[in-house]
Parts: sequence; C-alpha cells; structure tokens
Amino acid sequence: MYKKGLYKVVSNVRLSAKTMQMVLEGDTQYITRSGQFVNVAVEGKFLRRPISVCDYDENTITLLYDVVGEGTRAMSQMEVGTMLDLLTGLGNGFTEDEPTQHPVLLGGGIGCAPLYNLAKKLIARGVEPVVVLGFNSDSDVVAEDMFKELGIATYVATVDGSYGTKGFVTDVIREYDLQGDYFYACGPMPMLRAVCGGLEWSGEVSLDERMACGFGVCMCCSIETKSGVKRICKEGPVFRKEDLIWK
Ligand SMILES: Cc1cc2nc3c(=O)[nH]c(=O)nc-3n(C[C@H](O)[C@H](O)[C@H](O)COP(=O)(O)OP(=O)(O)OC[C@H]3O[C@@H](n4cnc5c(N)ncnc54)[C@H](O)[C@@H]3O)c2cc1C
Ligand code: FES
Repeated sequence: MYKKGLYKVVSNVRLSAKTMQMVLEGDTQYITRSGQFVNVAVEGKFLRRPISVCDYDENTITLLYDVVGEGTRAMSQMEVGTMLDLLTGLGNGFTEDEPTQHPVLLGGGIGCAPLYNLAKKLIARGVEPVVVLGFNSDSDVVAEDMFKELGIATYVATVDGSYGTKGFVTDVIREYDLQGDYFYACGPMPMLRAVCGGLEWSGEVSLDERMACGFGVCMCCSIETKSGVKRICKEGPVFRKEDLIWK
C-alpha cells in the first residue's frame, strides 16, 4: 500500500561530485521492506522522480541520489526545512527473510542505496552479508564508509582501476573468491545482466526503469517475465533472477 504525504528536508548534503544524501522527516509507516522506493514530486515537473529508500526508521527516510537532470538538480538545491511531496510504500522490496546464510550484496553506482537498509536488516537477523560496490572511478565512490561502519566486509571495484579492484563487481567476486549462497543486486542493466548470467547462486535484482505513475496504473514500466507481464513499479522493482528474461 502506498501513501502520499509531506516530508520535511532535515539534511541535504553532497557525498561526491554527483551524489547527494537527503534525510527527510515524516510518516514512514507505509515503508515496509528494504528495496522499496519513494516517488518525489518536483515543482514544475509533471512526472515524479522515483528514488530508492536507502534507510528509514520510525520518522526519517534517507535517500542517496545522483544529480543527473533537472529533477534531481532541483532536489540538490533544496534547503533544510523545505517540504517535499512524496509517495511512500512503493514497490515490493527485497526478500528480507530469504533463508540465506552467505548473502552477497552487489551495488552498481547509486544502486548501492537500497542495499544499505537491507544489510542492516540481514545483520539484525544474525546473517552477515558481504558487500561489493562498483563505480566508474574513485571520485564516484560513495557509501563505502556507511557499509563498513556496519562492521561487514565491503569491497569496491572501479572500472578505471583508480580505487579497489580494477573492473566490475563480478571481478571482485573472482579476485577474492567470495563464496556466497544468494545475491541481492541493484545497479545499471548491463551489471545486472552480467551478475544474473555469471553467478551460479540464486538471487534477486532491483531493476531501474523510466517510470510515470509509480504505483501500477499506467503500465509504462511493464516487462515480460517467465511468469507473465509484470510492472516494475508494482510487482517489482525486485525480481528473482530465475524469473527474468534477458533479450
Ligand atoms: C525504482 C527506482 C529507484 C531509483 N532509485 C534511485 C536512487 O536511489 N538514487 C538515484 O539517484 N536514482 C534512482 N533512480 C533513478 C532516478 O529516478 C532518476 O535518475 C531520476 O528520475 C532522474 O530525474 P531527473 O529529472 O534528474 O533527470 P531527467 O531529466 O529525467 O533525466 C536525466 C538523465 O537521466 C536519465 N534517467 C532518468 N531516469 C532514469 C532511470 N530511471 N534510469 C536510468 N536513467 C534515467 C535520462 O535518460 C537522462 O539521460 C531510481 C529509479 C527507479 C525506477
Ligand atoms: S510507472 Fe505506471 S505502471 Fe509502473
């Protein structure tokens, strides 16, 4: 179930040249699982902007977002005290109670965001995940400290080799011979394709797609899966690897 509400910006800080972290205060009761997203109304824009919930508690929501266009640029300029119109409780989220003992969390770029709350939930359940983050270059690296502060093994890959392992998240798995039994992944499509095709473990991925309504009405985010047509915003954004068709 989703809900529309007003949220107060309590902090909005830059983490890197392109990534910002925004903390909002308001009603979080409709956010029930890691991997869900909010849809942000930006003044002057017809379509809301979907952003994953990076973290949440009883009355705050943390978002990590890349400034890529007008909507996210407007968000980056919002001052503390600004009221934001959000839809919360959107999407299905990750399977937090998957019976995995050795989960590996794979985040590509800003796809690291929804994995943070998932890592906290897994740790609270007594399971210690390993985190692998992939970025283009050292100047793009964000959230590494956040994951390390949770006390879990955190690896970083950069495409240009300027920080951590040179290459992709899959190269880290090979280099360190990481032994998982399940993966949770979020990132750009080529990364998700490589992860689903390259790892023998079962797992699930959060898909990123242009959206309109964000709550299942317009059908613009539909994809074909092995179990029929699904809406990324409603039945997703998280899908089992086994359910996806890669064309
Ligand atoms: C379920 C979901 C969760 C998301 N979570 C996050 C998040 O946690 N943090 C974050 O930074 N972004 C996230 N995104 C992407 C985010 O919604 C877009 O970056 C944002 O809407 C761009 O708005 P804009 O007005 O700044 O850019 P626009 O002017 O709309 O677009 C600028 C550029 O970004 C590209 N773009 C826009 N939307 C997307 C998209 N969905 N995927 C890929 N490229 C896009 C456009 O093609 C264009 O090149 C998520 C998207 C989805 C569907
Ligand atoms: S964005 Fe409208 S149905 Fe998914």
